[in-house]
Amino acid sequence: MKRPLPRPFLKWAGGKTQLLDALMARMPAAFRAYHEPFLGGGALFFALHRAGRLTRAFLSDSNAELIDAYIAIRDHAEEVIALLAGYPHDRDFYYALRAQDPWRLSLPERAARMIYLNKTGYNGLYRVNRRGQFNVPFGRYKSPRYLDPDNLRAVARALQTADIRHQPFEGALEAAGTGDFVYFDPPYAPLSRTAHFTAYQAGGFGPEDQARLRDVCLALSDAGVQVMVSNSDVDLIRGLYARPPFRIHRVEARRNINSKASARGKIGELIITNY
Ligand SMILES: C[S@@+](CC[C@H](N)C(=O)[O-])C[C@H]1O[C@@H](n2cnc3c(N)ncnc32)[C@H](O)[C@@H]1O
Repeated sequence: MKRPLPRPFLKWAGGKTQLLDALMARMPAAFRAYHEPFLGGGALFFALHRAGRLTRAFLSDSNAELIDAYIAIRDHAEEVIALLAGYPHDRDFYYALRAQDPWRLSLPERAARMIYLNKTGYNGLYRVNRRGQFNVPFGRYKSPRYLDPDNLRAVARALQTADIRHQPFEGALEAAGTGDFVYFDPPYAPLSRTAHFTAYQAGGFGPEDQARLRDVCLALSDAGVQVMVSNSDVDLIRGLYARPPFRIHRVEARRNINSKASARGKIGELIITNY
């Protein structure tokens, strides 16, 4: 029997599944290690793994709970699966689990809670309030697929040799070396000044953060690292990456992350590379 191939195990705001073909088409011809410092749902990591293009991977994100979920699946997949198998799809159970403090749970329990809430919660997104508490209401799904043992085992296999860290994106500066490839998928710059972007977690990602990311890309370029960045097609981003070594490619993408119907549909996105 053929082993199933790994796919993202969480639905993540800004998930790159829609943009995968465009990203894959602009990958460097060859690279040593792969780095994804804004990991989220890891759509490109899993796609590269499925395509057999990965050897060593360095995965990181500033969201501690998210990173713990990856570590839990890598190191304790069977426990996470057993916990999820015991969770009923039930409104009262959802709110009881939501009320638990994730930091008082074991690593596998914290991961199972996150997967369950992510797959059964309204809109299937991870959202926290100012105090960092997950505050999404129970969703209206008939039979959400929060228990997917085959995929979790495939994910665990894909992660076995991965270096997984809770750290800000600047960590890529230390981890990446000549010939490596880094894919940066930061929280996108808003399309307009008034467009408030989905909060990924407490603390946003403002213009200064976008500028620091560009500086990190410049430093990596000097060190012989190949970088690819995705972002929205706005003046701020075009301005930051206007000069060599950067090249800007525009792609049309369909995104659903904005709750305002008028902002849904096709919008331009940028894929920036230094190669
Ligand atoms: C657009 S999402 C990435 C989506 C991902 N590519 C996917 O396919 O699901 C951005 C991610 O960056 C993380 N993040 C936000 N600020 C960060 C920072 N300063 N350093 C590292 N990660 C950060 C968020 O936790 C979030 O997971």
